[in-house]
This record gives sequence, C-alpha cells and structure tokens, in this order.
Amino acid sequence: MTFQTITNLDLHNKTVLLRADLNVPVQSSKVTDTTRIDRLKPTIDHLRKAGAKVLILSHFGRPEGERNPQMSLAFLTPVLQECWGVDVSFIPECIGPSAESGAKNLQPGQIALLENVRFHKGEEANDPYFTQQLAKLGDIYVNDAFSAAHRAHASTEGLAHLLPSAAGLLMQAELEALDKALGNPQKPVCAITGGSKISTKLSVLKNLIDKVDILVLGGAMANTFLFAQGADVGGSMYEASMADEARSIMSYAESRGCKIIVPADSVCVAEIKPDAPFKIIDSKAIPPDMRAIDVGPATIVEVTNLLDTCRTVVWNGPMGVFEIKPFDAGTNALAKAVAERTKSGKLVSIAGGGDTVAALENAGVADDISYISTAGGAFLEWLEGKTLPGVAALLKQSKAA
Ligand code: 3PG
Repeated sequence: MTFQTITNLDLHNKTVLLRADLNVPVQSSKVTDTTRIDRLKPTIDHLRKAGAKVLILSHFGRPEGERNPQMSLAFLTPVLQECWGVDVSFIPECIGPSAESGAKNLQPGQIALLENVRFHKGEEANDPYFTQQLAKLGDIYVNDAFSAAHRAHASTEGLAHLLPSAAGLLMQAELEALDKALGNPQKPVCAITGGSKISTKLSVLKNLIDKVDILVLGGAMANTFLFAQGADVGGSMYEASMADEARSIMSYAESRGCKIIVPADSVCVAEIKPDAPFKIIDSKAIPPDMRAIDVGPATIVEVTNLLDTCRTVVWNGPMGVFEIKPFDAGTNALAKAVAERTKSGKLVSIAGGGDTVAALENAGVADDISYISTAGGAFLEWLEGKTLPGVAALLKQSKAA
C-alpha cells in the first residue's frame, strides 16, 4: 500500500486542510473519551513544527445538512487546546467569506477549527461545488480521519481529487496496523469475533474466512452457529432464520481450511442482571430456562491454547455481556491472554470496532494490544474487505503524483 505521507511534503507557509474525526462521545456537553483527539496530536505537532497553517475540518453527529447549534464544533476548542497543548481558534463556518478570511489570517504554526462540515448538504452528497468551496481554503489536503474513511463525502473523499493530498500520521498508523492484521500478516492468524447477530456480520465473517486460519466466535452470534449444528441453546439469544446461512458459512470455512471455534461451554443464567446466580453448562445442552451470557472456562482454555499457535490476532467484539459483572470474565480472560502474548512478542494484536475498545479497557489491557483502531463502522467495513473511499482516494492521488 503506497500513499503520500506528511513526512515527505514541504509544508512551510502552506495552508493545510486537515480532515480529522472529532465525532467524539459526549454526555451532558462533556467529552467522555478523548482517544480520537489524543491520537491526532502527532499530526498536529508535525504540521506545526513544519510551519504549516492548519485548518481543521470535521463532522460531529448527523445534522443532515442543517445548521444545528447542538452539533456545533465550537464547544471542542478548549478540549483540543488541553489535549494538544496549543491554542486553537474557532471559525463559525466551513465555507464562504468568513471561512476564507479566517484562513487568510492564519500564521505558520497556528491552528483553527472550522464549523461542522455536515451543516451543509453538499458534504454528504460529495457535491463538486461544495468541495471546491472547501478546497479554496487550503493548499494541501491531509486526511487523518480513518474512522470516517468509509464515507465518500466532500471532506473525506472529494477533496483528495482537488488538492495535493497526503495521509496524516494517524491515518498512516491505522493503515499500517490493518495491513499487518489481514493484508500482510504473520501467520497463523486468529480472528476473535463477538457480537449479537450474524445477520449484521455476514460479510465480515465471509471475508475473515478467506483471510484467517482460526475464527473464534463469541457473543450471541455463536449461539446461532450452535443452533445450526443441532445444539440445544435453551433460552439463549439466537437467530433461527440464519441457521442455513450459518451452516453455509461453516462449510465454506471447511473448504478454505479455516477452523471455526464456537464455545464448548457457557456461563448461563436464568435472568440477565448484575451478580445473577450462574451455572457453567455444556453449550450444546442448555436447558430452556437458562441462557448463555459469557464463554465458560473450558472455552477459555481451548482458545488460549490456540493463541499459542498463532502469530497475529484480530479482535472485534466482546465474548459475552461484558457490561454486566461478573459476566465480563470470559472477555477479560481472553483479552488478558492476547495482551500477555503481545507483551512477550509472541503475537501481533489488532483490535477495533464498536464495543471492542470499551471491552479491552474494562479488561485493563488496552495499553498492551499492539494497535487499537479509533474506528467503529470503518473498521467493520474494512473487516468486510470493502474498499474505503477515503483511503482509495488517497492511494489514487499517490499513484497520480
Ligand atoms: C464514527 O464515529 O464512526 C465516524 O465518525 C463516522 O460517523 P457517521 O457514522 O455519522 O458517518
């Protein structure tokens, strides 16, 4: 994978339009997790040191092309300043005269944040006129928003066709990590995938079978596979209508030499609630009044032993209802097994998507995973083997250069 990076560009006195993903989690106007902001710091530092004038573009929420004060990016400037240790000014538009004069007034090393690009319908429509209005503001486009690269929008895709373009350091780190996971991994590769429904993860599972040697299934998704094998899954959550699909996935895996692992035993409860009384039950013989909520100890031993035979792990999704204690035990034990082997250099581990980061943080091992993606939906689309438009546009520009 070759793309232009910011380390080999002359940025002095150039205005850089930096596409960041500041779509951060917020509760009562407070940012609850600054990971996406923190991970942009290396790019910000590099651009400032190189003497660039930095104009940040981002979306926040889904205002659907309307100006919505609830989704203004203005509240973020103090957070950015604190995380990056620099002054950040705010420009209350992202196109037009005020954005243009704000851009002109920037000095080398200064940073300004433009208003939410999704206040304009042209953003999501990837409208050529809107894209031109954005392009007018800068000399170079730098895309550091891997987590929004599955969107073919003006600021994530269109701009790469109008300005000299490069990947920011976060985008570069994400792409290099993903390449190590499935593009060009050290083999054997194991994917650990959880989640509740196979109907939403069909293409992910099919693509993983093509790429990995072992596919460990956890979460309610695994129950559908057990049901499809004729197991009694009791009161567990499963998708009866997906049984044929599950059987065809299993026979496809067999034909590709990919080993599918479903839980041998499960932690089962009568009712899902904190500290509910539980029993460890054979996953193929769960009574009707019980439901699986986590993977059991025999499964943990089996998967841990398999990890010893692997060099790379891709993790997406928890193994059970990790939000309710003590039913995070299975997810925690496997997360720790991955982290220990990563720390001792036996495994390369890459995780991302949805609840994955929260699950690894809950297990206390987030710092010991080789790479955790900042992306949710983009990580899943990448696991599906899809071409992400934001990435494709950068690669195309590099070829043209
Ligand atoms: C995300 O949070 O996953 C990205 O910022 C994309 O947001 P979207 O799903 O609203 O396009």
